[in-house]
Amino acid sequence: MLGRMSDPAAVEQPNPYGSERPTAAPVRRVRIPHLQAMKADGRRWAMLTAYDMYSAQIFDEAGIPALLVGDSAGNNVYGYETTVPVTVDELLPLVRAVSTNTKRALVVADLPFGSYGGSLEQGFHTAVRFMKEGLAHAVKLEGGQAMAPLVELLTTAGIPVMAHVGFTPQSEHQLGGYRVQGRGDAADALVDEARALESAGAFAIVLEMVPAPVAARVTEVLSIPTIGIGAGPGTDAQVLVWSDFAGLRAGKAPRFVKKYADLRSTLTEAAKAYAADVESGAFPAPEHSFEE
Ligand code: KIV
Repeated sequence: MLGRMSDPAAVEQPNPYGSERPTAAPVRRVRIPHLQAMKADGRRWAMLTAYDMYSAQIFDEAGIPALLVGDSAGNNVYGYETTVPVTVDELLPLVRAVSTNTKRALVVADLPFGSYGGSLEQGFHTAVRFMKEGLAHAVKLEGGQAMAPLVELLTTAGIPVMAHVGFTPQSEHQLGGYRVQGRGDAADALVDEARALESAGAFAIVLEMVPAPVAARVTEVLSIPTIGIGAGPGTDAQVLVWSDFAGLRAGKAPRFVKKYADLRSTLTEAAKAYAADVESGAFPAPEHSFEE
C-alpha cells in the first residue's frame, strides 16, 4: 500500500498557513552609509512603519529603504490609546517578524517608553535585546540632549541609533498632549538638541510635528539624514505610520497624514461580500472544493 506522502494523486497544495514569498533576485540590504549617501546626493527617501510579515514583505518589495517597527504598534496593533503602555515583550516579536521578512530594508526597532530612560545600563540592555532577539539593524529612541550619553554608549557598542525629537509621543503627558514643538523661541533649543544627538553618534533623526522652516533648518545644519513626520517638505526623508497611510484607521487622521489607499473600506466590503457568499451558499464554489 502506498503511504500517504507517496500517493501520486496527492498533488501538493500551497501551504495555507505558509509565509512563502514570490522568488526574487538577491538584493543588497540597505545600510546606514546608503542613507547618508542619499542625503549627500540630495535624494529624498521614504520610511514606513511595519509590524508584521505582510506589511514588511510588501513595503520591502515596494523598495521602501527603511522600515520602523514603531512603538506606534501600541495604538496600531494592540489598540492602546497611546504608545505609553506597549512593552518590550510586546514589541520584540513584531520586530523579529519584520526583520526576518525583509531582504532589503533597514529595520529599525523603537525602544518603548520606560525601557531605556532609567539608566545607561537599562537602555543598553534593552537595545541589545532588540538587536539579538528582534534581529533589528538599528534602534530608535525619543528624547533630546539628555539621551546623548545613551546614544554614545550604544553607538560605541555597535548599535546604530535613530534619534527622535520634536513631538515625542512617549512624553505626551509631560508635553500636555499632541502639540507642535519648536515654535518661536523654542526653535533654537530644538536645533541644539538635534546637534547634540548627531554629535553623540545618531545616524538619523526623526523630527515629529515641528514647524516646516525649523525642520528645514535642522536638515541644513546636520550631516545625518532628517526624517520628517508633520515637519514639512524640507527634511531628507519622510515617515508615515502604515495603517494611517493605507487608510486602516477609523475616524480622522492627523493633518500630516496623506492617505494613499482606503484599506478599511476595501476590507469592510470584502468581509461583507464573503459573509453574504457564505450565507447564500455561493462560497465555496466547486473550484474551491476537492474531489474525492
Ligand atoms: O512609533 C512610531 O511609529 C514613530 C514614528 C511616528 C516616527 O515613532
